[in-house]
Amino acid sequence: MIPNANRRYVFAARPTGLAGPEHFREETVPIRMPGAGEVLMETQLLSIDPAMRVWISENPGYVPPVQIGETMRGFGIGKVLASGDPRFAPGDMVQARPGWQSHATLLASDVQALDPALGSPLDWIGLIGMTGLTAYFGIRAVGAIKPGETVLVSGAAGAVGQMVGQIAGIEACRVVGIAGGAEKCAILTGELGFHAAIDYKAEPDLAAAIARECPGGVDVFFDNVGGPTLDAAIANLRLGGRVVICGRISQTASGELYGVKNLGLLIGKRGRIEGLLVTDFTARFGEARHWIAAQRDAGRLKQRMHVIDGLDQAAVGLGMLFKGENMGKLVVRVAG
Ligand SMILES: NC(=O)c1ccc[n+]([C@@H]2O[C@H](COP(=O)([O-])OP(=O)(O)OC[C@H]3O[C@@H](n4cnc5c(N)ncnc54)[C@H](OP(=O)(O)O)[C@@H]3O)[C@@H](O)[C@H]2O)c1
Repeated sequence: MIPNANRRYVFAARPTGLAGPEHFREETVPIRMPGAGEVLMETQLLSIDPAMRVWISENPGYVPPVQIGETMRGFGIGKVLASGDPRFAPGDMVQARPGWQSHATLLASDVQALDPALGSPLDWIGLIGMTGLTAYFGIRAVGAIKPGETVLVSGAAGAVGQMVGQIAGIEACRVVGIAGGAEKCAILTGELGFHAAIDYKAEPDLAAAIARECPGGVDVFFDNVGGPTLDAAIANLRLGGRVVICGRISQTASGELYGVKNLGLLIGKRGRIEGLLVTDFTARFGEARHWIAAQRDAGRLKQRMHVIDGLDQAAVGLGMLFKGENMGKLVVRVAG
């Protein structure tokens, strides 16, 4: 039976620092049945991403900001409950951008069917979802890694970072991760196949720690963090080294932006810095998903998931990302 109440969280106040539950408001509204060309989706899993903090800022830059009073934007997986489109039937598992709500009436053209043969719903949100795709294209296409190279990854225990390190390892690179805390570092080297890990919270001089763990220098730095971490990595780049700018979480919710100080080193090193936007590779998502799934099936690649329960935890989860409280891909289980 289709319920008649949609529970949702709307954006209520623009944060200046970290975002939390105080910036969202819970509402219950009637569910709207789908018209022609629409589907009604029950949200089961919601992806919680650092980019959400960017979307609720005044000027995100690459996407329009979420407006006060709008349902919070978000990617998720769910089940079709009713369909006004011949491509979907009740019971189909789909991915879309339902936002932070229990039920979403969406244009069928904005909804994509999941292939259950390729992975579970959790896989579709992490391993073969945006996280895995970002890692795959970021380190292979933008980082252009070659066997034998040394790859340094920041935010290495996070969702994207752990995938980047494993993929570089599969490509026969030496992989060093930077993460916060001994426990995360132990998981990187003990469970995820990183050759070394640096606990940046315990290192007084990060550049020296990178030099210690990457004695020949860094060929490719995959950066999720930005700020002084980027300085420390640039200081250790080898001749012809590459930097992939994937994220800059240390700067996302901070008032004062850090100015990278040693870009001049790139001249002598003939270094290259390049931004990555995963959606540039949309036409190749199928190829990447099959590669990743094959590596998973061969036991060479996995995604640690960090699942929290309840739609009311979405805003709590957003704050967790910025406090380093997640280990792996952060997901809210809404139903199912
Ligand atoms: N360019 C693209 O197309 C694209 C696509 C997807 C994601 N991204 C970006 O990729 C990055 C990683 O995303 P994700 O989903 O994998 O998130 P994530 O790394 O799982 O979660 C955030 C992690 O960042 C670290 N962190 C938080 N504040 C920090 C700070 N001040 N300094 C250093 N580290 C800090 C924490 O780990 P520690 O405990 O280790 O500090 C935390 O666990 C994000 O910046 C995201 O926006 C980009």
